Amino acid sequence: MSKASILAPANIAVIKYWGARDLDRTIPCNSSISMTLKECRSHTTVEVRPAGEADQIFLALDSGLEPAPLAFRDRAIGHLQQIRQAMGAKASFRVATRNSFPSASGMASSASGFSALAMAATQALGTPMSLRELSVLARLSGSGSASRSVYGGWVEWSAEEKDGAAIPLYDAAHFPLVDAVAIVESGAKEISSLEGHRRAIASPHFERRLELLPHRLQQVRQALDDRDIHALGRVMEEEAIELHLIAMSSKPPVFYWQPATIAVHRTVWALREEGFAAYFTMDAGANVHVLCPPEEASDVAIRLGQVEGVEKVIVDRTGDGPMPSAEHLL
Ligand code: PMV
Repeated sequence: MSKASILAPANIAVIKYWGARDLDRTIPCNSSISMTLKECRSHTTVEVRPAGEADQIFLALDSGLEPAPLAFRDRAIGHLQQIRQAMGAKASFRVATRNSFPSASGMASSASGFSALAMAATQALGTPMSLRELSVLARLSGSGSASRSVYGGWVEWSAEEKDGAAIPLYDAAHFPLVDAVAIVESGAKEISSLEGHRRAIASPHFERRLELLPHRLQQVRQALDDRDIHALGRVMEEEAIELHLIAMSSKPPVFYWQPATIAVHRTVWALREEGFAAYFTMDAGANVHVLCPPEEASDVAIRLGQVEGVEKVIVDRTGDGPMPSAEHLL
């Protein structure tokens, strides 16, 4: 039976996808822009099985293969179903996956996990696809951010693209940054981003956000073009706070922050007073991603690690995107 393995990275959005026009088809209300990471990635093997067999999903642990938890298994099988349908394929699949980052670290893993699944499945089927087509297939998982993880560097998922594909803006070498992630909460978050998207549009601030975004997106594209961390960082922080403002004012509210989240924000602002070019952003969770130039990374990571309530700091950087792996997990 043919099999394929892929290493696909997570990404951190500087302009966030938050709120969908059509959540079932993962059509976003707004465009988003992200930086692809390097070390935080999913390693996924897909083996093609004869049609009619049940799909099987495993976690590849150090102790061996273990059936995936039910919620994850159902979502992965739903994604495989979408992939089969999109490709006109009948085969069944066996899948094994693991994350390079600690799975209980509270880092978003849907982007890396589902982009890896889409890429490994199509490769195992022996059907070559363009990155653009893979971006669309990754998005069909229901994780919009997965559409951005098929590319390296800086990536935009435009709400205007007809097929819903993300597009690469700049490669990693154009503007490499470090992402030091202050982990203040490990384990699964209480409210999934899927539920956050569902509730977002009830926020009284949501419409206003959509009005502000075209200008903010333009500022980010310009900052990336200029490799200007200060211009990027200012917009990125504003954007992160606004994402959480929308979440907190959703109905019912979605409140991700912990006391240590705010302590990290204050530390980042103090670092800037001292002359560091460090700026924060956050996903749908309590952890804080701090972007800075590579030469500042070790100082910034040490300072973040000293904040009360920070469990650990994961240091990652801009990466080149997914790659095949010769190591099969099945
Ligand atoms: O890709 P999803 O559906 O898990 O949503 C991602 C939501 C954010 O991480 C908060 C923002 C983003 O664009 O990555």
